[in-house]
Amino acid sequence: MAHAAKLDLMHFESAEYQDRLERARRQAAGRNALLSQMFGQAQDILTVATLAAGLFVYAPWLILLLPLSFIPSIWGETRFNTLAYMMSRWRTPERRELEYLRHIGASAETAKEVKLFGLGDYLITRFKSLAHAIYLENRHVTTLRATWGSVFAAIASVAYYAAYAYIVWRTITGEFTLGDLAFLSGSFLRLNGLFQRILLGFTAIAGQSMYLDDLFSFFEIEPTILAPANPSPFPAPITQGIRFEGVGFKYPETENWVVRDLSFTLAAGETLALVGENGAGKTTIVKLLTRLYDPSEGRITVDGVDLKSMTANEIHRHVGVIFQDFIRYSFTARDNIGVGRIEAKDDQARIESAAEQSLADDVIDKLPQGYDQQLGRLFKQGRDLSGGEWQKVAIARAYMRDAELIILDEPTAALDAKAEAEVFARFKGLAAGKTAVIISHRFSTVRMADRILVLDNGAILEAGSHEELLALGGRYAELFELQAAGYR
Ligand SMILES: Nc1ncnc2c1ncn2[C@@H]1O[C@H](COP(=O)(O)OP(=O)(O)OP(=O)(O)O)[C@@H](O)[C@H]1O
Ligand SMILES: [Mg+2]
Repeated sequence: MAHAAKLDLMHFESAEYQDRLERARRQAAGRNALLSQMFGQAQDILTVATLAAGLFVYAPWLILLLPLSFIPSIWGETRFNTLAYMMSRWRTPERRELEYLRHIGASAETAKEVKLFGLGDYLITRFKSLAHAIYLENRHVTTLRATWGSVFAAIASVAYYAAYAYIVWRTITGEFTLGDLAFLSGSFLRLNGLFQRILLGFTAIAGQSMYLDDLFSFFEIEPTILAPANPSPFPAPITQGIRFEGVGFKYPETENWVVRDLSFTLAAGETLALVGENGAGKTTIVKLLTRLYDPSEGRITVDGVDLKSMTANEIHRHVGVIFQDFIRYSFTARDNIGVGRIEAKDDQARIESAAEQSLADDVIDKLPQGYDQQLGRLFKQGRDLSGGEWQKVAIARAYMRDAELIILDEPTAALDAKAEAEVFARFKGLAAGKTAVIISHRFSTVRMADRILVLDNGAILEAGSHEELLALGGRYAELFELQAAGYR
C-alpha cells in the first residue's frame, strides 16, 4: 500500500501495472515461512556434517552413493518449481479476471443489475470455463511432478538398499561388527533423508525467491510524475490565473490526441464551465490541471509558474476536486466528509460547515446516528444513501479543502432540480474570490458560470458567457435550444 500510494494515476489505469500489483500483493503476505525455513536449513546442515564425519571414517565411499539417490529428485523439484512459477505468472491476468467475475457475481454494488439482467448463469459459466482452463494446467504440472517424483523416490530407495545390503554383507564376512552395522545403516538412512531435505530446502527457497522477485520488481516501479529539484510553492492566492499554453495530451500507450493545441486562460476568481460531448476531453483536462498526468506537449501555468515546477502534493493541497466517479466510502458520515482534508477529519465545525455548503447537512440530519452513522452496505448498521445524497456528501469533501481552485466534474448530475439550484447558489457564495471549474451536461448549471468553453474533440470550439454564446448562434446555442425544447 505504501509503495502503491507513491505511484501515478497512469499506473493504476494500466492493465500491465494491475498484473504486477496483483502478483506483488499475492507474494507480500505468503512468504513469511521463508525465514524459518532458512534457519531449519542451518540446523540440518549441522546434523549432516556430524553424521557425515562418522560415515567418512568407517566407509568413505558410501558417501559417494548418496548423491545418486537425491540428485534426480533435486533436479525434478527445481524444474517443477520453475514451471509452477511461470504458470502462476502467465496466469495473472486470468486470475484477476476470475477475481473480477467473482466480485461482479457476488457483491452489493452489482447485485441489482446482475439480477435484473439475469446475468447469474452467464457469469458462473464464464467463471467455470476460465477456472477450468487454469485447473487443467495445474493438474498437468501436478501429475508430471508426482510421476517423476515417484520415479526419483524409487531410485533413492534402490540406492539406500544397495548400501544397506553392502553393509550387511561386510558384517557377515566379519569386517564390521554388529555395532558398526547399526551405526552405518542408521547414519546412512538419516544422511540420505537429511541431504535430500537440505537440497530440497534450497530448491524450495530458490523457488520462493522467484515469487519474491515479483514483490521487489513491484517496488522498482517508479513514479513518472517527477517532483522538481527545487519545487515552487503553489501561488496562493492565485492573482492572475491559470493558463493552458498549446497543451496537447495522449494517454500512455495510446495513439490519438485526447486534447490538442489547447490554449485558454482561467482568470483568478473566475468560474469557468466546460461543456462538450461525451469523450470530448473534459475530465482529461481536469487530470492535467491537477497534475495527475503531465501534458504531452505545451504547458500549464498558475500565475506564470509551470505546474511541472510544483510537486503534485503541493498542487493537490490547493485544489478541491470531485470527479464524476467519486468514491462512496464505507466510512461514517463524518469520515466521508473528513477525508476531504484528512488533517481536519476531527474538526467538527469545519465538517459541518462543508456539509452545509453542499446540502449534505440535511441528509445527515435524517440519519439515525447523524455524523456517526456508518454509510454504505458493507458493514454492520451501514445505511445506504440515494445517488444524489451520496453526491452531496462527496461535494462536501471538496469544500473541506482550503482550495484556491475548486473543480467539480458533473457535480449535480444526480441532484434534483431544487437541490441543484440551491447547491449553486451556495457555491457562488463560496466561490467568490476562488477560481472554479465546473463540468456539466446540464445547461441550468452551465449558465451560472462566468465563462463557458465549448469543447469538441479536445479543442475549443466556442468561448464566452452564456448570453454571448447564445447570441453567437453556434454549437452552444444549438445544444441549449435542444435541451430547452425538451422542457417546453
Ligand atoms: N485512462 C485512459 N486511457 C486511455 N484513454 C482514455 C483514458 N481515459 C479517457 N480516455 C479517452 O479519452 C477521451 C476523453 O475522455 P474524457 O474522460 O476526458 O471525456 P469527457 O469529456 O470527460 O467525457 P464525459 O462527458 O463522458 O465525462 C475519451 O475518448 C476516452 O476514451
Ligand atoms: Mg468526464
